[in-house]
Amino acid sequence: MTTILVTGGAGYIGSHTTILLIEAGYEVILFDNFSNASKESIKRVEKIVEQNITLIDGNVCSSEDLDTVFTHHSIDAVIHFAGLKAVGESVEKPLKYYENNISGTITLCKSMAKYGCKSIIFSSSATVYGDPHTTPILEDFPLSATNPYGRSKLFVEEILRDTYMADNDWNIILLRYFNPVGAHPSGTIGEDPNDVPNNLMPFIAQTAVGKRAFLSIFGNDYNTKDGTGVRDYIHVMDLAEGHVKALNIIHSLNQVITINLGTGTGYSVLDMVKSFEKASGRTISYKIAPRRTGDIASCFADPHYAKEILNWEAKYDIDAMCEDTWRWQSNNPNGYKAL
Ligand code: WQD
Repeated sequence: MTTILVTGGAGYIGSHTTILLIEAGYEVILFDNFSNASKESIKRVEKIVEQNITLIDGNVCSSEDLDTVFTHHSIDAVIHFAGLKAVGESVEKPLKYYENNISGTITLCKSMAKYGCKSIIFSSSATVYGDPHTTPILEDFPLSATNPYGRSKLFVEEILRDTYMADNDWNIILLRYFNPVGAHPSGTIGEDPNDVPNNLMPFIAQTAVGKRAFLSIFGNDYNTKDGTGVRDYIHVMDLAEGHVKALNIIHSLNQVITINLGTGTGYSVLDMVKSFEKASGRTISYKIAPRRTGDIASCFADPHYAKEILNWEAKYDIDAMCEDTWRWQSNNPNGYKAL
């Protein structure tokens, strides 16, 4: 049995990835401080996989918490999801983001090395490409960031590259997610933002279920097919599968590899609204609002390297993303919060 430590494992992507890890035969140790996740999500994951999961309430910034994990479990690899991810909040509270996302990763890696575990899959983001000069985006495109959240991802990538340069025993895979959306087909787990959603899909879903009066579309004057922003939305189950495939190659990799996890197809805000109306049978009321600071017109991946190195490609289309999101949201109008 190969044992995987999943930091941030109670979160949106972590909980979905845990299901596929267990179904692939891995033993999973979940580590989360529940600052942006609910213990209820893990109870539901346990129901889906029909087994109990070891769950440790801890903080990646605490070497004591991490030492406890590594002294009680023989960890073969780490999937590091734990991190703050709200762009707007990162602008207001940069030190909180740098401490959590950067110091937390440094503390984690020091604990890993102390106990002889040098295999890590890092949750990076397409945000490190800034405003790309063209699309689709390749892994060797120039990197830049326009906010502390994006910079924290960029800095961690560089820190991990330097860690490998100093010790070639490390096996490091940087996965650059495009726009994760959707939910497990059971409809029992999904994305559950803490308060008003920043991201498009949860806002649309909450509008459809009646929690929000209307969607504000941030700009319809971009140089795109219908003037609204274009993104590479990827189903969270496809994203989860990408992590399982990354684990298949990480052992004795002895290098740092960077991989885009996207579908290679860009959809506009209006495309998403239309698809969600079809999936839910509801009308999504919207108003055109001014552009959101920091937004770019278009961003979507060239996913060929993921196919080549992981033998992975996205399987779910936009309609499946909307159908699965609607099943989750309509079954759980208040997310994981008790009614
Ligand atoms: C998508 C499109 C908006 C909300 C961010 C982070 C990225 C990752 C995903 C963490 C854009 C438009 C949105 C709304 C809208 N996060 N929109 N009304 O900004 O591409 O990426 O989230 O890993 O790192 O940067 O995603 O969902 O916020 O926006 O019109 O209420 O929807 O303008 O065109 P984004 P998003």
